[in-house]
Amino acid sequence: MKVTVIGSGYVGLVTGACLADIGNDVLCLDIDIEKIAALKAGEISIYEPGLSDMVRINVAAGRMRFTTDVELAVQHGHLQFIAVGTPRGEDGSADLQYVLSAARAIGEMMNDARIVVNKSTVPVGTAAKVSQIIKDTLSGRGLDLDFAVVSNPEFLKEGAAIEDFMRPDRIVIGSEDTAATDTLKRLYAPFERNHTKLMLMDSRSAEMTKYAANAMLATRISFMNELAMLAEKVGADIDQVRRGIGADPRIGTHFLYPGCGYGGSCFPKDVQALIRIGADHQVPLRVLGAVEAANEAQKHVLAAKISERFGENLVGRHFAIWGLAFKPNTDDMREASSLVLIRYLLNAGATISAYDPAASQEARRVISISEAMQFSDNAMRALEGAHALVLVTEWKEFRSADLDAITSKLLTPIVFDGRNIFDPTQAREAGLEYFCIGRP
Ligand code: UDX
Repeated sequence: MKVTVIGSGYVGLVTGACLADIGNDVLCLDIDIEKIAALKAGEISIYEPGLSDMVRINVAAGRMRFTTDVELAVQHGHLQFIAVGTPRGEDGSADLQYVLSAARAIGEMMNDARIVVNKSTVPVGTAAKVSQIIKDTLSGRGLDLDFAVVSNPEFLKEGAAIEDFMRPDRIVIGSEDTAATDTLKRLYAPFERNHTKLMLMDSRSAEMTKYAANAMLATRISFMNELAMLAEKVGADIDQVRRGIGADPRIGTHFLYPGCGYGGSCFPKDVQALIRIGADHQVPLRVLGAVEAANEAQKHVLAAKISERFGENLVGRHFAIWGLAFKPNTDDMREASSLVLIRYLLNAGATISAYDPAASQEARRVISISEAMQFSDNAMRALEGAHALVLVTEWKEFRSADLDAITSKLLTPIVFDGRNIFDPTQAREAGLEYFCIGRP
């Protein structure tokens, strides 16, 4: 099928590459001239395992191309995917300006029937808005062309986006148009692998599903984070509690890991946006308000443990940080817990040596770097001269770190583990003073 993807960011590129990979003819559009020039030159600035190779292979095979030409893009695909950003607006609601301008562009440039597929995370009712804009723009041109708007949210995890797209656990298609639904069923048929992954629903339910999924996951995490704090006080081990409750299939084992708070481009933004949607409709989403507040508090948990151990004044103290990205396998620093920790340490007068396998460059861009903050290109070297190691992101390479080597490298053998990746007994046996989340 001929597919246009409007927006060549994270979601757009993954969508474009995966759809090209199964044999579609994909044209990716972006208004950012530099980004498209770089993509044409084979440079992909997004850190996502497998994405660069997949783009390269499909560009070479002639199935994937890039353009800044809106007219060309709208004319190319019978399917027009909208995969532009919906950043957090001032009041917490999703800013729809890019989605709506994509809709306008489609209305202005289309000369044949089109199916507009919205992948961006948008408030309930946006498909109807997009539809209205296209209709108005067409009638402004004196045209009455056939089109349908479908809501098709993505459920891609950063660091596993290709896998999530290629082996989805569900494909949500929200549509009021049977012909459009049939076309999308055909488009997604190769991803079904003998199991029915397709969920057909109305567009409003599809839009709400995306927010509900992220809000539910964020809720589980915040709930476990609060229980972890309680476990510390009552002398329980949250890891045992997690196993105990996860065995109940109604609860399940996933997303029950307490830590130093969730971050990223989705959870914080989507939780806020859903709260906003609730408020707009006079339905106070009290649970989600608490989820958000609990997460803000949880981002300070490492700072609290450090100040309890070292006192408020950290002048003359040096800390090693392992992990800066909001989670492993990404260089994404958005809403990362490391940012809260770094701000705290620097304000208290400490110095820092930070190591992250992928996010150092991005961190340099988003943190106003002073002499007090240095980056190391090696995990063990970052420990030299440090009074403690603070682990913020659970990259795989940290899991098998030699605890004896950590003890001997550190100036004082103290570890604050914000993701519970080490075994407390082994840490103690290695001579470490070990602080973690919700475990004795
Ligand atoms: C999330 C959703 O999982 C995905 O379906 C959606 O499309 C986009 O948002 P992502 O933001 O890439 O994906 O990250 P995810 O792996 O879900 O982790 C989010 C945050 O929660 C991370 O900061 C992670 O460290 C934290 N987390 C996750 C926990 O603290 N505990 C857990 O048990 C799981």
